[in-house]
Amino acid sequence: MKIDICTLFPEMCETVLETSIIGRGRKAGKLDIACHHLRKYTIDKHNNVDDTPYGPGKGMLLQADPLYRCYEAVCEIRQRRPHVIYMSPQGKTLTQKRALELSKMEHLYIICGHYEGVDQRLIDEIVDEEISIGDYVLTGGELGALVLVDAIGRLCEGVLAHESCFSEESHFNGLLEYPQYTKPALWHGREVPEILMNGNHAKIERWRREASLKNTYEKRPELLKTAPLTEKDKWYLRTLGWEEEQDIK
Ligand SMILES: C[S@@+](CC[C@H](N)C(=O)[O-])C[C@H]1O[C@@H](n2cnc3c(N)ncnc32)[C@H](O)[C@@H]1O
Repeated sequence: MKIDICTLFPEMCETVLETSIIGRGRKAGKLDIACHHLRKYTIDKHNNVDDTPYGPGKGMLLQADPLYRCYEAVCEIRQRRPHVIYMSPQGKTLTQKRALELSKMEHLYIICGHYEGVDQRLIDEIVDEEISIGDYVLTGGELGALVLVDAIGRLCEGVLAHESCFSEESHFNGLLEYPQYTKPALWHGREVPEILMNGNHAKIERWRREASLKNTYEKRPELLKTAPLTEKDKWYLRTLGWEEEQDIK
């Protein structure tokens, strides 16, 4: 998977991207990630990347031309046209489902906005999709891009040890994960559930499924509307007070 990030703060991105699982994925050659400094793609002597917006109002806007030149340079280096994402509070909110779809793509190009954002004509010219990391406004696109790259990168083949490392996690199958415990078995008077220590795999699997359903019902009941539920799951949820009809409304 190739990912190019266009940013005014490459050092901010690099620090995060060389750490932990994403850093290891890069070292192992599974993730080919490059950060491109937008200022290098200016042609005026002051390396300006921004200007005032047309019409009344305050603030500055990233100009289309340096952003476009950076994009063209990346197309040239990689010898391909990437899938172009603009990080934006106006985009569709990132989900695990979209992260998984994006992890199957060969090459992503991520644009980090700043100030008041970017000239709309650049978006119209090259952007395939706008992605938001939530309904709030950040100063720049870097934190969003890092969230996106982390969410996608760990799903790429060979980055985590096994697919089960992510396929059993929250949101992968529409539910939240079950609670987990590690040693010691007794901590501050709190015990690890007995069933997890008795080695009966079938019983542990059922316990985990029910704990996952309970977690989801208690923390994010709206997820149950779209989660793939078996009749056995629904029966269990009803014992908790869940009402299917009510939740569908
Ligand atoms: C201050 S924001 C601009 C907001 C823009 N004026 C608006 O109201 O839609 C500057 C940049 O931060 C990034 N950004 C801000 N909030 C974001 C979010 N929730 N998700 C992803 N990127 C975000 C975008 O790249 C944006 O261009």
